[in-house]
Amino acid sequence: MPTTVLEVLRKTTEYFAARGLDSPRLDAEVLLAHRLGCRRLDLYLQHDRPLAEPELVPLRDAVRERGRGVPVAYLTGTKEFYALPFAVTRDVLVPRPETEGVVEAAVEALADAASPVVADVGTGSGCIAVALLVERPDARALAGDVSAPALAVARANAARHGVADRLETREGAGLSPWRDHAAWGRLAAVVSNPPYIVRGDPTVEPGVAAHEPALALYVDGDDPLAVAAAVATQACEALAPGGFLAVEVGAGSGAAAHTLLERLGYVGVVVRPDGAGIPRVACGRRPG
Ligand SMILES: C[S@@+](CC[C@H](N)C(=O)[O-])C[C@H]1O[C@@H](n2cnc3c(N)ncnc32)[C@H](O)[C@@H]1O
Repeated sequence: MPTTVLEVLRKTTEYFAARGLDSPRLDAEVLLAHRLGCRRLDLYLQHDRPLAEPELVPLRDAVRERGRGVPVAYLTGTKEFYALPFAVTRDVLVPRPETEGVVEAAVEALADAASPVVADVGTGSGCIAVALLVERPDARALAGDVSAPALAVARANAARHGVADRLETREGAGLSPWRDHAAWGRLAAVVSNPPYIVRGDPTVEPGVAAHEPALALYVDGDDPLAVAAAVATQACEALAPGGFLAVEVGAGSGAAAHTLLERLGYVGVVVRPDGAGIPRVACGRRPG
């Protein structure tokens, strides 16, 4: 008897559950829908559809990889962020829902700014910068990253969403690549989701540690706010007076991030919680 959609979903779900994955059924559905080129919902309308061997071979490879902990997004090549589809490769962090808080904070803060120029530090897939540009058709973004392959992904995502003409990319650390840019000292906002994990942190999921880029995850040394602090320090110079800073921080770093921004002279400092109530996005304004 030929294997059906329902049968493949059942077996794949069992396999993923046995491998200890958090959301075995969801992962099975996403991978199968991707392979069949349909939406997850459509799988329910074709439970009895027989699957031919040529359809099953690539699916088996993806299932095996997922079983080894490879993030689903690397296997489908896409991840939704801020209700937009983003291309992802193994050169970039998989965009996380909590990072949408950085975009939301900036959109609110820039509500009254005309034609704002925003810098995104550690742009990765470009998810923050591109989502902002989609939201604000009058904005421009400067997107930097130490990873040249990541910048290529960010440019591809900007093109996909029709904002490539408003996104500049430069390779380098922090805000340094933009020191000679005309917008230096005049930026309306600096946004960033920098690396903030200390190596050896036992709370990091094994699949994340094994498959997502170390450059995107880890700080050097044992201060989780090291890169955030460098960005916030440089932003004091790069921002226009009154300019806005929003930096994502790790769980447990909210209070330290609040203190850090106040010590650097930012005003109106708040640390916005994510969907789980964890203080996540440290925000403030340059005085003036
Ligand atoms: C946590 S990932 C965030 C990627 C993307 N912005 C997101 O939210 O999904 C951090 C990114 O910062 C880059 N990065 C690491 N250290 C950096 C630094 N000192 N300056 C600029 N980018 C850096 C990494 O290559 C990676 O793309």
